[in-house]
Amino acid sequence: MIEMERVSKTYETGCKAVKNVSFTIADGEFVFVVGKSGSGKSTLLKLLLKELEPTKGRIVVNDMDLGRMPRRYVPKYRRGLGVVFQDFRLLKDLTVFENVAFAQRVVGAPGRVIRESVPRMLQMVGLSAKYKAYPRQLSGGEQQRVAIARALINSPRVLLADEPTGNLDHENAGGIMRLLEDINSQGTTVLVITHSQELVRQMGKRVITMDRGSLIGDTAGLKIPERRRRGYEN
Ligand SMILES: Nc1ncnc2c1ncn2[C@@H]1O[C@H](COP(=O)(O)OP(=O)(O)O)[C@@H](O)[C@H]1O
Ligand SMILES: [Mg+2]
Repeated sequence: MIEMERVSKTYETGCKAVKNVSFTIADGEFVFVVGKSGSGKSTLLKLLLKELEPTKGRIVVNDMDLGRMPRRYVPKYRRGLGVVFQDFRLLKDLTVFENVAFAQRVVGAPGRVIRESVPRMLQMVGLSAKYKAYPRQLSGGEQQRVAIARALINSPRVLLADEPTGNLDHENAGGIMRLLEDINSQGTTVLVITHSQELVRQMGKRVITMDRGSLIGDTAGLKIPERRRRGYEN
């Protein structure tokens, strides 16, 4: 579960990036966060990752109050979340297999576990055939699939994605969204920040809308046809 309770973030510059934002995301939900550039979406994500501290308010993720978390626990906390970015952030000198395996090595998984779980994860994202390829040999959509496999390899309860389809064409973007939907249907809570209005509308999921730092819309509680109708505009 993710809970934001009256959270505000003012940067040192005085910029009020997030203003009094509250929402709760239950385990197993799929939620989009939308809003114009500069509306505070990435700041929300950084707050959830504890890369930033809120100026006010409380954030609870998986029953942990981030404001009370000891600093030494933060790396472990972050490893328990899957995170995906617009620019993929793969290690360019490692193969697809090694990029995914790396995330598991970091948490000390034994070799036999890695040899078993990486192929399973690559199969799930549809990249079994490309396990020996390097990132530069892949399309954008494929690179994002590798990044998603890496984000999921340690079985996080929550997957956070900041504009995961921002660098992809429409078709690849659709494929990535369907993959995220699949992952969600297997139980992972998924939060996706996106600009793809059309995909958001098509998918009929809960939509949180940000505007100049404030939460101005949340379709939570609406039935799916109403969500589709209201989509991005509410
Ligand atoms: N490190 C920072 N220091 C000061 N202001 C920032 C910083 N990061 C973002 N901002 C500002 O905070 C606001 C929200 O930014 P951001 O969360 O990146 O929005 P979004 O992801 O919706 O485009 C913007 O006005 C942006 O300029
Ligand atoms: Mg952003």
